[in-house]
Amino acid sequence: MDSTQLRQRFGRPLRLGIIGGGPGAWIGTMHWTAAELDDWWRVVAGVFSSDPARSRAAGPTLGIDAARSYGDVAEMLDREARRDDRIDAVAIMTPNDTHYAHAVRALDAGLDVIGDKPVSHDFAQACDLVERARRNRRLYAIAHGYSAYPMTRHARHLARSGALGALRLVQVEYIQSGLATRIEDGPQNNRLRWLFDPQRSGLALVMGAIGCHAQHLACATTGLNVTRVCADIGALLPGRKVIDYASALLELDGGVRGTFTVTQAAAGGENDIQLRVYGDKGMLDWSHRDASYLRVAFQGESMHVIGRGDPDLPAEVIAAGRTPRGHPEGLREAFANIYAEIAQERIARELGETIPELAYPRIEEGAHTMAFIEACLASQAQGAWVDVAKLPRA
Ligand SMILES: NC(=O)c1ccc[n+]([C@@H]2O[C@H](COP(=O)([O-])OP(=O)(O)OC[C@H]3O[C@@H](n4cnc5c(N)ncnc54)[C@H](O)[C@@H]3O)[C@@H](O)[C@H]2O)c1
Repeated sequence: MDSTQLRQRFGRPLRLGIIGGGPGAWIGTMHWTAAELDDWWRVVAGVFSSDPARSRAAGPTLGIDAARSYGDVAEMLDREARRDDRIDAVAIMTPNDTHYAHAVRALDAGLDVIGDKPVSHDFAQACDLVERARRNRRLYAIAHGYSAYPMTRHARHLARSGALGALRLVQVEYIQSGLATRIEDGPQNNRLRWLFDPQRSGLALVMGAIGCHAQHLACATTGLNVTRVCADIGALLPGRKVIDYASALLELDGGVRGTFTVTQAAAGGENDIQLRVYGDKGMLDWSHRDASYLRVAFQGESMHVIGRGDPDLPAEVIAAGRTPRGHPEGLREAFANIYAEIAQERIARELGETIPELAYPRIEEGAHTMAFIEACLASQAQGAWVDVAKLPRA
């Protein structure tokens, strides 16, 4: 059964409760508009602030019925459970320190989750989320948008199908400039307050912010996990107390080698994500600055460019795009691909249909990211290569 038939048979959009994404929040609008972009979801309820009065007041300003604009997550889950038109899932887009607790409540209430990264404070919590999702038979997608662009999906297809030959080397970087000046010394807003508080932003600021995306993109593309790291972690800006730089040598499954560099403190950097994967037959090269194209080269041949909209792409790559070639698509559409895929899996389950496995990022991948972050920090502390912890088997 294809996605159109699934949608028609199910007969309605899935209903989503938002946690976070109040007025002025950065990523909230992205989630909300992406969820609704293809009509798989309708945002019908939410908790929009840690302050109950502010949360209740914010909902109607965002177009949510006052009766479904709740004061906190416990109230939303309790009141929604009593409705015939109750929410089917929650989307979590709050500060990092709250992700785990919100996800636990939602999974235990029998809801699917679309959660932002990092999924938890540490690997132990992430393993607990994996276990709860499995026990409750719930779906859990993570908003790693970069892995859901049509051309990163094609990179995934090429790397995993053997088209590049046996994989040898993976190079990934994410270079940003948001912390290139000492904004911690300037006026603070709510967002900066939680970001610069390590209790709230997590084990390493740059890893929770962008390092997780870079590591995930490398692993999701190749289908390989990181097994060992040798890391250099710290701050590029003198005197800074939070971590704004991380670099690591990687060893991935099967002994594949890799390099990883992320920073938010590189003046002029503009969400510059770059991925190169080398096999023994050829290589691919994807850059976020030119996201609709993928460069591929085989040994002894010139590089050629593959573009979103090329007619001979695999069906799942074509399905990840929406407009004819030359019309820019971006992060919102990539987020929408994640929302569309988890919706299809959810609906197929409800209808008792079997569909091919979809590529959206799952909680197991989020747990691997937490193990990777912990290993990088341990490597920095010990000045040595450190093994990345493995997820317990299902
Ligand atoms: N996937 C991505 O590409 C991406 C990009 C940016 C941010 N993020 C992640 O999204 C999350 C939010 O980041 P942001 O930059 O939008 O932050 P933000 O501070 O701009 O927004 C956070 C929102 O959450 C609300 N909030 C705080 N505590 C809450 C609670 N307990 N219950 C309900 N609402 C609460 C705040 O009122 C605010 O509306 C972070 O975890 C961040 O890592 C992901």
